Amino acid sequence: MERQIIPSGSNLKLRGKVALVTGAAKGIGRAVTEVFLEEGAVMVLVDIDKRSLNKTVMELNQKSYDIDFMISDVTSSEKVDEVITRTVRKKGAIDILFNGAGVLGETPGFFETAPEEWEHVFSVNAASIIFKKLACICVKGVKVV
Ligand SMILES: NC(=O)c1ccc[n+]([C@@H]2O[C@H](COP(=O)([O-])OP(=O)(O)OC[C@H]3O[C@@H](n4cnc5c(N)ncnc54)[C@H](O)[C@@H]3O)[C@@H](O)[C@H]2O)c1
Repeated sequence: MERQIIPSGSNLKLRGKVALVTGAAKGIGRAVTEVFLEEGAVMVLVDIDKRSLNKTVMELNQKSYDIDFMISDVTSSEKVDEVITRTVRKKGAIDILFNGAGVLGETPGFFETAPEEWEHVFSVNAASIIFKKLACICVKGVKVV
């Protein structure tokens, strides 16, 4: 895979670093992706929302960025394993994890929210299987942002 060539002036020191961003299709994850791309990082985008991720990747590719992406679910241990294994195999390392995947509960009231909904919100936003797995295997000293 070709690395990004960007104009000089970068100050985040991300040139050539492999950055894995979850929740990259929208919101904060997408915004971080765009900044990292401008800074020359080698990006791997992950999101559960296939349609939005495809749209984001298409738009970023129009700017001549060379990016890799995977449809995946950060709450699934098997899928997270797949993301890590594939990224390390293709890119050789994971230098940075930006774990932007997140959800809000659909039920407005605290006491009205069903246990399953709490469980889902926490498993996406807080339990972060991907962080635990990367912390355990320490792929080339991953920085967690
Ligand atoms: N936007 C804000 O101002 C703000 C402020 C504080 C906290 N937050 C929290 O930060 C998180 C991200 O916010 P955002 O505004 O970028 O949200 P967003 O909805 O715009 O983006 C979140 C992305 O995460 C993806 N996602 C959801 N579940 C996933 C899963 N299981 N696996 C993989 N991807 C999944 C979604 O498809 C979406 O693309 C949320 O938890 C939000 O509550 C946001």
